[in-house]
Amino acid sequence: MKRREFLFGSGAAAGALGLGGFGLAAGEQELVVQSASFALRDQVTTGMVSLSPDAPPPVLYGKQGEVIRLPVRNTLPDYTAMHWHGLRIPNGMDGVPYLTQMPIGPGEVFDYEFTPPDAGTYWYHPHCMTMEQMAHGLTGVMVIAEAEDPGFDSEQVVNLRDFRLDDDGSFLPAYTTRGAARAGTFGNVQTANWLNGPIYDHSAGGLVRLRVVNTDTARIYKIHLQGAEARIIAWDGHPVEIEVPMPNAEAPLLVGPGQRVDFAVQMPAGEGQTVDLMAKFPGQPHRAMMRLRATGASVSRDLRELLPLPVNPVTKPDLSKAKMHEFVFGWTPEGGEPTNGFCGSLGANFWSINRKPWPGDAVQRVGPLATLAKGKSYVLRLRNESPNLHPIHLHGLAFLPLKSNQRSLPPLMTDTMLLLKDEVVDIALVADNRGDWAFHCHVIEHQKTGLTGFIRVI
Ligand code: C2O
Ligand code: CU
Ligand code: CU
Repeated sequence: MKRREFLFGSGAAAGALGLGGFGLAAGEQELVVQSASFALRDQVTTGMVSLSPDAPPPVLYGKQGEVIRLPVRNTLPDYTAMHWHGLRIPNGMDGVPYLTQMPIGPGEVFDYEFTPPDAGTYWYHPHCMTMEQMAHGLTGVMVIAEAEDPGFDSEQVVNLRDFRLDDDGSFLPAYTTRGAARAGTFGNVQTANWLNGPIYDHSAGGLVRLRVVNTDTARIYKIHLQGAEARIIAWDGHPVEIEVPMPNAEAPLLVGPGQRVDFAVQMPAGEGQTVDLMAKFPGQPHRAMMRLRATGASVSRDLRELLPLPVNPVTKPDLSKAKMHEFVFGWTPEGGEPTNGFCGSLGANFWSINRKPWPGDAVQRVGPLATLAKGKSYVLRLRNESPNLHPIHLHGLAFLPLKSNQRSLPPLMTDTMLLLKDEVVDIALVADNRGDWAFHCHVIEHQKTGLTGFIRVI
């Protein structure tokens, strides 16, 4: 991690950034998990997984406080289960096999139905055969609209992710032992909405809500915007209530697997002018992942015309009464072969939480990492004992970063905390959602080789 890379909070130690450290319509829609083909490069790639035969998983739209019904039909020969990342919904709808439901077998349907309490940018992905289905395409964006429109002219969703392909367009193995034991196995074809640098037209001078989601299985995207006046308005779904600096080429924003950032973008006034979403990959110059192109005569909007996003109804933790639990993320001392159910195993364990590797998908009689009392406030200390970065994700609850041993963290509500090398971060939350909530690294090869557990709220 270079000092100049910017993630929320990365500048603190350097002090340079001045942050002080820091589809488809709602209602009912059957989602059919199926195999798909798509030209990710020049040749058509077969053996992909999506919700239609020849297109990426659609953006699913819902409305804050309104029920959504999403029956998931499995037409694959393997098992599946669908998870709605970041949504604070009832445990039984969370889509974690063996923990909250049994996996969905071939030919079976599971009726998901929930009412999202929060507006914002979320996403969905299977939590079973994860490496196989996610790495082959099944990661989609979910937009939960605010009850009141904040005043944008349009919006653009960008799903960033890699695929790992051979020269002939066929899939290479999605994971490697070497990658799983280190930072993960990276793809070699980087896409935005499965495309190579797509261009999207938006009104010249208009206000666009740009929702960027990293749904990759391993890569931490380093991004910035070029060519427009813009502001960060939400992070990991939740409105940003403080001023945060805009990333740039020297200090890109780090968006870990599972994380989201919403920008309010003021389109340039001149027809044909573009705004580029830039990303940096090791050993390469910055590259435009996606481009917004101004069309028509300028509608001359101004960022200051936007209403602030309404704050989501997340209860703020009471730190004076918060009990602490500590979690250590590191390599596994004993390794061992994981037990496998119907949800796929990588055949080895490399990682652990509190020095124990998660024993496998179908495990029985494995207790929670912590048991929290409903309604009480807690501080969770997340300690990374490894040299690798880990986007640590907690289901069902939103939390607030408090402090780090390496940087000062702005208090931006989230569900996924990117832990740096040897970093120790305290987060705080109110345990206000009952159930067994998966708690894991979102580098899928880490998740599937031990770095998983769950937290119980009773
Ligand atoms: Cu994005 Cu356990 O998930
Ligand atoms: Cu999740
Ligand atoms: Cu990890």
